[in-house]
Amino acid sequence: MTDAATANPTSTLAGVPETLLITLAARLMANRQNPDLHFTDTAAEEVGNAIGFDPARFSSDKASMRGCVARGQWFDRVVSRFLAAHPDGLVVSIGSGLDTRANRVNLPERADWVDIDFPEVIALREAYVPPLPNAIAIAADGTNVASWAERTGWRDGRPVIVIAEGVSMYLQPSDAEAWLRGLIAQAGIRRSSLTLALDLASPLMVRQSHRHPSVSKTGARFAWGLKRPQDLGKLGVGLRIVETFDIARQCGPLAWLVASAYRMLTLGRPVYSCALFST
Ligand SMILES: C[S@@+](CC[C@H](N)C(=O)[O-])C[C@H]1O[C@@H](n2cnc3c(N)ncnc32)[C@H](O)[C@@H]1O
Repeated sequence: MTDAATANPTSTLAGVPETLLITLAARLMANRQNPDLHFTDTAAEEVGNAIGFDPARFSSDKASMRGCVARGQWFDRVVSRFLAAHPDGLVVSIGSGLDTRANRVNLPERADWVDIDFPEVIALREAYVPPLPNAIAIAADGTNVASWAERTGWRDGRPVIVIAEGVSMYLQPSDAEAWLRGLIAQAGIRRSSLTLALDLASPLMVRQSHRHPSVSKTGARFAWGLKRPQDLGKLGVGLRIVETFDIARQCGPLAWLVASAYRMLTLGRPVYSCALFST
C-alpha cells in the first residue's frame, strides 16, 4: 500500500467500490440509529475501527441506513436457512465489500464461503476483515462467472447459494444478464442446485439514483433495474422466484407511505425489493 492508503485505507476506493462504505456505515450505526432491529456485528466494528472509518458521512440518510440493516437481516436469514439445509454447501457472495456476513452467521465446518469483489476491495478485506478457516476472498468481476467458478470449491452436485447484496443496481444490463446466464451455465455443468438471493431496484429508483442521499456522495450511479422481481424469470435464464421482501417499506414511515402508494398506482410493483430465486 502507498503511504496515503496506509493512512486512510479507504482512499483507494472510488465509484462503485466506494459504495461499500454506505452499508458499512449502516452496520456500524445500527445499534444507535435502529436499536429496535437488534442488529449487532462485532466483526464490522473491528473492521470500522481498524480502517478508521467515521460512519457520520452517511448518518443523515436515516432511511437508507435503516434499509441497509433490514436488508442485511433478510440476507442473513436466507443464508442461515440455506446452511441449515445444506451444512456442506457453498456460499458465494458477489460484491461483498467489507461485509462480515460470514462472521455473523453460524458457518458450519463443512461449508465453504467465498467473497468476490474488485481487487482494491479484496485487498482491504484481506487486510482488515477477521479471517475464518473456511472463507476465502477472490478478486474478480463477479459477473464473469467462468473466471471465478473453478476457484470456489464448487464441486459437482454441491448445493450453492449466490448472494449479491447492494450490487445488481450497479451492473450494466448486459453484464447483469451475462452474470445470470453464467451462473445457470456453471450450475448446469456441475448438476448443482442453485439458489440466488439479490436485491433489485425498480427503473424509478435507477432514474433517481443521482438524488440518492448516500449514493450521490460517491461516484457511483445505478444502471439496472426491473419493474418486478418476477421479471428476472422472464429473461429466460431458468430461475424461478421463491420469495420477495419489500425493503422500501422497511425504511421508516415516509418511505413506507411512498412505497405503498407506488405499489397501489402500479398494480403491485415494489420500488425496491429483495428476491430469492432457485433453479
Ligand atoms: C453497495 S456495496 C455492497 C457491499 C456488500 N455487499 C454489503 O452489503 O456491505 C457494492 C459492492 O459491490 C461490488 N461490485 C459491484 N459490481 C461488482 C462486480 N461486477 N464484481 C464484483 N464486485 C462488484 C462493489 O465493489 C462494492 O463492494
